[in-house]
Amino acid sequence: DKKLYAPDIIKLKGVRKFSMVTAYDYTSALLVSMSDIDIILVGDSLGMVMLGHENTLNVTVDEMLIFLKAVKKGAPNKMIVADMPFLSYQIDIKDAIENAGKLIKAGADAVKIEGFEFPIPEITKRLSSMGIPVMSHLGLTPQHVLKFGGFKVQGNTKEDADKIIGASKELEEQGAFCVLLEAVPEEISEMVTKELQIPTIGIGAGRFVDGQVLVWQDLLGINPNRVPKFVRKYANIKDIIIDSLNRYHLDILNSTFPSYEEAHHLKRV
Ligand code: KIV
Ligand code: NA
Repeated sequence: DKKLYAPDIIKLKGVRKFSMVTAYDYTSALLVSMSDIDIILVGDSLGMVMLGHENTLNVTVDEMLIFLKAVKKGAPNKMIVADMPFLSYQIDIKDAIENAGKLIKAGADAVKIEGFEFPIPEITKRLSSMGIPVMSHLGLTPQHVLKFGGFKVQGNTKEDADKIIGASKELEEQGAFCVLLEAVPEEISEMVTKELQIPTIGIGAGRFVDGQVLVWQDLLGINPNRVPKFVRKYANIKDIIIDSLNRYHLDILNSTFPSYEEAHHLKRV
């Protein structure tokens, strides 16, 4: 299948739903490239699932570039969205453009930016107008975790809901090609999806959005840590890995690994 770009994603709205999954390394990206998944997200969640941080606030552009380049090599045939990490866009517009440019030059086909308050609409407009597609990220924006006081569902009150709907419309006006909604009631994401011409994509945002995204480790059941209720585990790779490691360990102790066939031997002369 041919690679999708931002305008192709826009055209999918109302035609069919679309899928996105995170990937952070070459081997995983290679597997995604062999699948039907529409979009890869090199998310700043890598700070947590790949680097072990408590939240995403420590992730830098240089770190994003390492993972992004590896993913690009594994999946040159897939649309790649890269997260703009904390402090890579908030300081000033020049910074935001430079950092978005670095992600694009490293192989991203679009960037994702959290939030909607000043100066996000302006940044969205500038990047879009210079040819960098922007995916907006609203609701539970993990870079605001300290302000939220934890990874909590957003948009529970009528005021919060109105804010998210208003922000979505504003970001669409500024040129965003898609709005990602994280951990919001599905009554809100449904309203946003109906209000916008551009597609929405949800994680913990319920049924009535245009696309869905999950984190690699969550979807495959690799992560032994607690996962949110919105995650559906399509496999339990964690148990396969631990069991494989234990059998490998035991085979070594029993001297049954390696075997004669698995060893190199002197050539007969
Ligand atoms: O970083 C990430 O993985 C994300 C998704 C959870 C949407 O932003
Ligand atoms: Na992210």
